[in-house]
Amino acid sequence: MRRLPNLVLIGFMATGKSTIGRRCASALAYPFRDTDSWIEEREGRSVKEIFAAEGEQRFRAIEEEAVEALSAEAPIVLATGGGVPLNPKNVSRLRVNGVVVLLSGTPESILLRAGDLDSRPLIASATDPLHHISDLLSARDSAYRLAADYTVDSSDLSPEQTSRLVLEGYRARAGLTPFPAGSRFD
Ligand code: S3P
Repeated sequence: MRRLPNLVLIGFMATGKSTIGRRCASALAYPFRDTDSWIEEREGRSVKEIFAAEGEQRFRAIEEEAVEALSAEAPIVLATGGGVPLNPKNVSRLRVNGVVVLLSGTPESILLRAGDLDSRPLIASATDPLHHISDLLSARDSAYRLAADYTVDSSDLSPEQTSRLVLEGYRARAGLTPFPAGSRFD
């Protein structure tokens, strides 16, 4: 029997990867998985604590293990941490059996959705968070786009609209039939 591919969500912090991922997982009846949760469960501490105690480099090494382990599961919906696509090994693993969708957003929409910045080590200490988000986004943009099969800009969309576009892209690429007209995703 044909093995269905994973639906992998990549993109910057606070673009809705977990929210949209959960909705898509429920629509597809796939398990929902998340690289940050995998890391926190295995390490028994938060991402913020790992950054503080051991630094970003160690976090990235554990993150690579998370991607390797989770890529072996299929079919799942996988939400990935914002730095995952910067490592080419992660991208190759995710693409072997996954359809990769980039959730993009403007710096303003990201800052609005980011909530408590304290839990986000890469932007927590910035004096001008909007400027810092803009800079990080520009630095990452080409890696994000190269890793993705398609992109959905979630800035001005509701979770329902974003999920619909993500799922339509996935179904077309996975060779599944389109949703019937009027299908709901809430
Ligand atoms: C990071 C994003 C975070 C988390 C870590 C590093 C990044 O995940 O993995 O703080 O480099 O962009 P989310 O994108 O889920 O917030």
